[in-house]
Amino acid sequence: MTNKPSRIVSGMRPTGKLHLGHYFGVLKNWVKLQEEFESFFFIADWHALTTKYNQTDDMKQNVEDVLLDWLASGINPEKSTVYLQSLVPQTAQLHIYLSMITPQNWVERDPTLKDLAKIMKDKQENISNLSYGLFGYPVLMSADIMLFNSNYVPVGIDQVAHVELTRDIARRFNNIYNVNFFNEPEPKLTQIPLLKGLDGNKMGKSFNNDIKISDTDEITEKKFKTAITDRNRIRRDDKGNPDNCEVVYDYWKIFGTKDEQEEICMGCTSASIGCAECKKRLTSKINEYMAPIRQKRAELQKQPSLLKDIIYDGSKKAQIKAQEVLDGVEKAVKMYK
Ligand code: TRP
Repeated sequence: MTNKPSRIVSGMRPTGKLHLGHYFGVLKNWVKLQEEFESFFFIADWHALTTKYNQTDDMKQNVEDVLLDWLASGINPEKSTVYLQSLVPQTAQLHIYLSMITPQNWVERDPTLKDLAKIMKDKQENISNLSYGLFGYPVLMSADIMLFNSNYVPVGIDQVAHVELTRDIARRFNNIYNVNFFNEPEPKLTQIPLLKGLDGNKMGKSFNNDIKISDTDEITEKKFKTAITDRNRIRRDDKGNPDNCEVVYDYWKIFGTKDEQEEICMGCTSASIGCAECKKRLTSKINEYMAPIRQKRAELQKQPSLLKDIIYDGSKKAQIKAQEVLDGVEKAVKMYK
C-alpha cells in the first residue's frame, strides 16, 4: 500500500442499494484505481444524516447494502481502505478546525448545497431553513478529503465544486498557519459514458428507472420490458432505427460484442427482430454479465459478521492515517498537546 505514490479518497452516502449507473459510472473505476493509488473509500453516513436525520430506520441496512455492492463489484479491502465515516471520529475533529477557517460565503456559493437545499424545501414543506449540519455539508466533505491529505478525488462532475472548495480551504489553512501541510486535492473525473435509466433519463433510485446491482434475473427482465425504444417503431413489422433507440441500443453497446451489436442493428432496421425479442436477448446478456457479481453479493450477505469485521478493520486502518494528519493539524494550529 505504501509503495503507491498518490492517495485518493471518495465516498458515497448510504441511501440504499446501488444500481448499474453506480456500477459502470463509479465502482468499476474505483476497482481500477485501487490498483494504482493508495485508496480510501468510505460510506458517508454523517452526510446521509444531513438530509435524513429524521429517517434513520434504514441506516444500518443501507450501510450494509452499500458495502455489499462495493465488495461484490470488486472493491478489495486488502487493497483499499474501506471504512465508515462515523467510525473515524477524526473526521469530525478535522471538520471543527476547518469550520473555523472557512468563510461563510464560501459555503453559501456551493452549487450542490443550493440544490440540496432546494430538494429539502420541495420534500418537506415546513422545513424552510437549512440545518446547521446541512449547511456544513461541503466543509464536512472537505474534512473527508483532507483527512488523508489526499491528492485526488474520483468523483462525478456534480461534485467538482466541492473539491474546488476543498482546495481553497487547504490553501487557506496553509496560509493562515504559515505551513505547507495540506495538498491541494484535485478532482479525478471519470470518462465513463452515463448509463441511462430505463425511461431515458439519468438513472436514479428516486426516478424508479433503475436496475440494481442486486436485482434478480427475473426482476431485471421484468424491468427491462418497460424500457423505452425507438418511438417510431410502433408495430412489430415496422423497421426500427437503433440510433433513435437511446436506452436499449446504448446498453447493447456496453453488454454486447461488436458482432452482436451488428446483428441487433440489422435485425432492427430490417424488422426481423422485434423489440420484445431484442430486450429479452439484452437482459440475458446483462444477467450473464452481472451473475458473478450478484453471486458474490449473495454469498457475502450470508456472513454479517464478516461485513462487520471488514468495516471495523477498515475504519481502524483509516483512523491511523487520519490521526497522523490530525496531529499535524493540531501542531500547526498550536493547540495544547
Ligand atoms: N457528496 C458526495 C455525494 O453525494 C459523497 C461524499 C461525501 C464524498 N464526502 C466525500 C465524495 C468525499 C468524495 C469525497 O456523492
